[in-house]
Amino acid sequence: MRDQPNSVDLLEWYDHHARVMPWRVGPAERAAGIAPDPYRVWLSEIMLQQTTVAAVKDYFLRFTTRWPTVSALADAEDADVMAEWAGLGYYARARNLLKCARVVANEMQGKFPANYEDLLKLPGIGPYTAGAVSAIAFDRPSTVVDGNVERVMARLFDVHTPLPAAKPELTDFATRLTPTDRPGDYAQAVMDLGATICSPRNPACGICPWREPCKARDSGTAADLPKKTPK
Ligand code: ADE
Repeated sequence: MRDQPNSVDLLEWYDHHARVMPWRVGPAERAAGIAPDPYRVWLSEIMLQQTTVAAVKDYFLRFTTRWPTVSALADAEDADVMAEWAGLGYYARARNLLKCARVVANEMQGKFPANYEDLLKLPGIGPYTAGAVSAIAFDRPSTVVDGNVERVMARLFDVHTPLPAAKPELTDFATRLTPTDRPGDYAQAVMDLGATICSPRNPACGICPWREPCKARDSGTAADLPKKTPK
């Protein structure tokens, strides 16, 4: 077993296996200097809360075709946005989406702030979304922790404390692993790893870029982690 997981091994895997998504600027494009549009990153991350990638794709394409910029969305009629959102559920997200678009369009010249603390002040943006937008859109080394990342960290470090109690510890591991080089690619790489190889059931440990340093794989506990406190 190798001592410590490192971001370079994961990024090398991501360079070959990144999933293609309509809102994503892939690793090759990024390396060529193409920066993601913060509006598209923000919109996708709001939609992806409580909703799968597959379900979000069509909604994302319809929204960005109809409202290609945050200022266009800010000028939309509330009822039109709610109608386009229909089916995605959690309608508070759509109401906050409009509130946030209007603050960014009217008070920030249509530009999303780049740093975590300023993003966190916007309507509907919590710690996860602030981290994701700061990392993915602005390539800042923010920590991004969703369910995928929690699972990957619990396994890498063989954490048996159940969720949600384990959250601070898992966040701490995630923070320490986040690189200053390519943090935007890295954030998406951990999520892709969690969604594909380090899956909840039957993880494909044999082809994982972090198989050597993974403590749960070493102990044979990967498929049992993370533990959850029964509801
Ligand atoms: N789930 C939520 N945001 C994601 C992203 N940017 N890439 C992959 N999966 C995600």
